[in-house]
Amino acid sequence: MAEIERTKVAYLFDGLTGDILPEEAVKIINSFMVNEYLYLGATREITTKLENLNDEFKYHQDHNPIHQIRARVKTPKSIINKLTRRGFELSVESARNNLTDIAGVRVICSYIDDIYLIANLLTSQDDIEVIRISDYIKNPKPNGYRSLHLIVTVPVFLSESTELVKVEIQIRTIAMDFWASLEHELRYKLTNEKTEEITRELKDCADGIANIDGRMQNLHSILTLSKDREVYSSNKIFTCSQMA
Ligand code: GTP
Ligand code: MG
Repeated sequence: MAEIERTKVAYLFDGLTGDILPEEAVKIINSFMVNEYLYLGATREITTKLENLNDEFKYHQDHNPIHQIRARVKTPKSIINKLTRRGFELSVESARNNLTDIAGVRVICSYIDDIYLIANLLTSQDDIEVIRISDYIKNPKPNGYRSLHLIVTVPVFLSESTELVKVEIQIRTIAMDFWASLEHELRYKLTNEKTEEITRELKDCADGIANIDGRMQNLHSILTLSKDREVYSSNKIFTCSQMA
């Protein structure tokens, strides 16, 4: 196994919790870094699939269902912290079996219908296997968090094998993403007596956002419907002139 110099991974110790020895930690971090390409490959496979779907809609329907795609691979430090927190063994195998979000892709859509469109098209592809779907849009978390989460496997083709790699895909609207980013930042800062008030305010904003997302979807559906009518009426004209 290739070795990565200790000096190059030193920054990964910053904030590392638990009681593993530095030497041991270096070895574990090394092994995670050596395997990183697998997860990078998986995020690229998913991103390409999503970009292809978006392009197809852009050309044929004059509509971009996807506003933005962001991908990341969990750092070794973060993998070790999560395995430690959950009481799992610290190894590449254990991370692979027990964690579903080492490879993560976040898909930001403008409209709610686009979220389900993208999720359905992606999960019906032959090489995608769905492990779990959590619909936090139909069933929001108590704090107001909304998103559609998919855990899937995607094949990554290597020189001597094909690996099925798990990827967590979070699909949400621009407004849901806006809310989740602020909530995430605030969560780490909420230590004072105002916590309850801020939590309530965040929940209120989440409900407001859900309402606006619904109204924007309705308005956008009018546009889609009128486009369908244009196509229908131009077809009719074409048929009539053909008959003349
Ligand atoms: P994690 O250990 O957080 O991965 O939990 P889990 O395996 O039970 O999955 P869950 O579906 O709850 O959350 C997965 C990911 O969704 C998290 O790592 C966050 O990125 C995101 N997420 C879930 N809940 C919230 C939330 O309340 N607020 C924000 N901002 N993000 C959330
Ligand atoms: Mg997570």
